Amino acid sequence: MNNSILLEVKNLQVYFPVFGGVFQKKVAEVKAVDGVSFTIHRGETFGLVGESGCGKTTVGRAIINVLTHVSPDVHIGGEILYHDKDGTVHNITKLSSSAMKVFRSKIQMIFQDPYSSLNSRLSVKQIISEPLEIHEPQLSQKEVEDKVLWLLEKVGLQPEYANRFPHEFSGGQRQRIGIARALATNPELIICDEPVSALDVSVQAQVINLMEDLRDEFGISYLFIAHDLSVVHHISNRIGVMYLGNMVEVGMADEIYFYSKHPYSKALLSSVPIADPKQKGKQRILLQGDIPNPLNKPSGCSFRTRCPIAIDDCANHTPQLLNISDTHSIACPYSIS
Ligand SMILES: Nc1ncnc2c1ncn2[C@@H]1O[C@H](COP(=O)(O)OP(=O)(O)O)[C@@H](O)[C@H]1O
Ligand SMILES: [Mg+2]
Repeated sequence: MNNSILLEVKNLQVYFPVFGGVFQKKVAEVKAVDGVSFTIHRGETFGLVGESGCGKTTVGRAIINVLTHVSPDVHIGGEILYHDKDGTVHNITKLSSSAMKVFRSKIQMIFQDPYSSLNSRLSVKQIISEPLEIHEPQLSQKEVEDKVLWLLEKVGLQPEYANRFPHEFSGGQRQRIGIARALATNPELIICDEPVSALDVSVQAQVINLMEDLRDEFGISYLFIAHDLSVVHHISNRIGVMYLGNMVEVGMADEIYFYSKHPYSKALLSSVPIADPKQKGKQRILLQGDIPNPLNKPSGCSFRTRCPIAIDDCANHTPQLLNISDTHSIACPYSIS
């Protein structure tokens, strides 16, 4: 990891329309992401954590700019700034498909479910060559084949597997195929959306080790989305914690894992069974109630309805991230000490 910035997400907002009534008019908005900011440096892994439904996947999909394909009426606000190596900065929030093409090769995404994310009718060779054919049309068939075999080797799969189909592989092997496919275009950033959540624990470690080796070899950055905090702590340099569409805490991986300050991060972390001596004797905080419906977010601080230290005033102000050190910031004025 070095200090040069690769991606800057500034005050990102993603509001999905909700339609209803006989005329299917827009009746409400789901504020899936409501003013999220963070930065990813070159060669860094930035972990994004939070309960299901807090907006993690939506952040990832906003970065690869596919949200308008799913919901044409989605509102996307804020900026996503991609910094080229030569210092040029591009706002990629609202690019057309053709303008986005160059960034599609630099930013790839891998998904939680390696079963449904690979086209089952294509052979491994076809799956991995597809992005090459799109982004490097100048390559000869032989060059594409050579690159496919090289990629298979890089992700720890035998070259003989190239002609097999996804159903012939285990979950871990399929995730390796997904990684090879993502690597094909020499990306600078890979967005990993719960990449190991569907795998057995023993296989998870192997895939995580592979991802770390690839990061070190190729200098890739990862946005690593997960709800398993111990996995995120292991792989990430820095971590951001999200709650109902907002970032509530950002810091170095150890700052978040061992010394979190925001009451939500503390509760999230104390739900993880950790066999770590630093955590011994720490009080477990149980979250009260369910996560509110994002259509009906509480005013002010949206965590206040479940927060053990909330006061009346929390209903009146949406807390902003405040720096408590050069690396650590929290969105709760009552937890700074
Ligand atoms: N295409 C969509 N249309 C409407 N609502 C959506 C859409 N995608 C996600 N949402 C809503 O946005 C919120 C955040 O979802 P998501 O980003 O998938 O969360 P996470 O990945 O953290 O589980 C959820 O309330 C979800 O229902
Ligand atoms: Mg998700």
